Amino acid sequence: MFTPRPIGFVRSPYKRAAEIPKGIGAKHTAEGVIEILPDFQTGLKDVEGFSHLFVLWVFDRVEGFSLLATPPSDNRQHGVFATRSPRRPNPIGLTVVELVARLESQLRVRGIDMLDGTPVLDIKPYLSSVPNQLLRRGWLAEAEARANT
Ligand SMILES: C[S@@+](CC[C@H](N)C(=O)[O-])C[C@H]1O[C@@H](n2cnc3c(N)ncnc32)[C@H](O)[C@@H]1O
Repeated sequence: MFTPRPIGFVRSPYKRAAEIPKGIGAKHTAEGVIEILPDFQTGLKDVEGFSHLFVLWVFDRVEGFSLLATPPSDNRQHGVFATRSPRRPNPIGLTVVELVARLESQLRVRGIDMLDGTPVLDIKPYLSSVPNQLLRRGWLAEAEARANT
């Protein structure tokens, strides 16, 4: 395999997990900055042409994992791989953010759900290719329907 190393860190307004919106209808509109380390800055060439980015990052403040999770959006248990639980065998987070601006090694982004200081593993352009009518939202659609009745 390989040994992951951070390419940068997130500067986030969230210092504690409790501050991050969760559950059905939660909106992630907070702005933050992804600071890329000098060794990797060249890798940002042309990134500003993309409106949205995938950010892969580390749940660095979680210990251990559980193969079953009860997400804040439901009161039922689901397999960890059917959720976005932080407590997973490989503690890797994936967030789609809007790129607001790039200033040299800093990416100002909107839509973060990471804690301040979170290590970033990778960044890729977000290119959505799945038509809406083909998307199925699994247990989440059912939980949303129950919440609305
Ligand atoms: C439900 S996870 C989803 C993260 C990402 N969007 C994903 O799908 O992989 C988001 C939660 O992870 C937790 N979190 C954020 N940053 C973290 C970090 N650095 N270490 C551990 N937990 C973190 C917070 O509780 C936050 O509400």
